[in-house]
Amino acid sequence: MNYRRMGNTGLKLSEIALGSWLTFGEQIDDRLATDLLHIAYDHGVNYFDNADVYADGRAEEVMGAAIKDLPRESLVISSKVYWPTMKGVNGRGLSRKHIMESCHASLKRMGIDYLDLYFCHRYDPETPLEEVVRTMDDLVHQGKVLYWGTSAWRGDQIGRAVGLARQWGLYSPSVEQPHYSMFVRARVETSTVPAAEDHGYGIVTFSPLEHGVLSGKYNDGVPEGTRLSQDAEWAKKVLTEERLALSRELGKLAAEIGVSQAQLAIAWLLRLPQITSVITGASKIKHLEDNLGAVEMKEKLTPDVLERIETILGNDPTAIR
Ligand SMILES: NC(=O)c1ccc[n+]([C@@H]2O[C@H](COP(=O)([O-])OP(=O)(O)OC[C@H]3O[C@@H](n4cnc5c(N)ncnc54)[C@H](OP(=O)(O)O)[C@@H]3O)[C@@H](O)[C@H]2O)c1
Repeated sequence: MNYRRMGNTGLKLSEIALGSWLTFGEQIDDRLATDLLHIAYDHGVNYFDNADVYADGRAEEVMGAAIKDLPRESLVISSKVYWPTMKGVNGRGLSRKHIMESCHASLKRMGIDYLDLYFCHRYDPETPLEEVVRTMDDLVHQGKVLYWGTSAWRGDQIGRAVGLARQWGLYSPSVEQPHYSMFVRARVETSTVPAAEDHGYGIVTFSPLEHGVLSGKYNDGVPEGTRLSQDAEWAKKVLTEERLALSRELGKLAAEIGVSQAQLAIAWLLRLPQITSVITGASKIKHLEDNLGAVEMKEKLTPDVLERIETILGNDPTAIR
């Protein structure tokens, strides 16, 4: 495993992280979730991602139980707040009240004293940004959160939060968690990366395989028991003919250079030095082992291979047209 510094902070994260959305407390049983976490840890993964809303809090309970026998200081544990998790008008969003309530609930469910990373799971237009920044700053002072960040915020929104924090001498957001994959790249490459360079924050990305599509598992049809076999509406959006055609081409290239298609997709994200860590998901041990292999396979992404990937994708948002 390799480790990268999270922006200008002193914190180092494994290039591959393991997340828990739809799997822990939901799609897989607790035994398998624990095994996945331990196998990842044994391969050097130190960052494990979670959120208050995953499986209605069950994902945090399962992760908390799974890390009980691991040294806390060797783990980077994250959670998030924003989506509705509690009853009533204040059971959602980024008000001081909901952030505090949700943070306490996450710590309790996981049975830990602090979160290493705490994310605002979306931007909240109904709460003044200063209230959000001050609340996160308070959590850091209270020792309940070490670093705070944002998820799926635009570069200018993060820039304003950093500006407010600097103006008032508060702890700034130091990491953004965006969706980033071969298919979904414009915002990260044109807005998040430049803003991260300007403000010195790290980037940890989610859904690297586009819900499994970029592993190539759907190239010849929809296998039973897979994520997209369970939701026809969602599959219609994610599994378009255009994407499948690209995925098949990527599959051929991956086979030619001797990597799995999932490894190609994950290693390609890590080509950018501004990406601190790629948060992967897995419902099977073989997925995790496959995805972890991306770290070694990075060296196969020569300039020639990178150019061939761009030609297949045809979606470079920084290309001069
Ligand atoms: N901040 C946010 O808003 C946000 C949003 C989404 C996710 N996240 C975080 O990011 C993590 C990863 O996101 P994601 O689960 O959407 O990632 P993903 O890599 O796009 O999809 C993971 C799913 O793809 C399949 N898969 C994974 N590796 C595979 C392989 N090597 N071969 C074949 N199939 C494979 C598995 O699904 P099946 O076996 O079920 O088909 C797995 O659960 C989440 O757990 C969560 O922590 C954050």
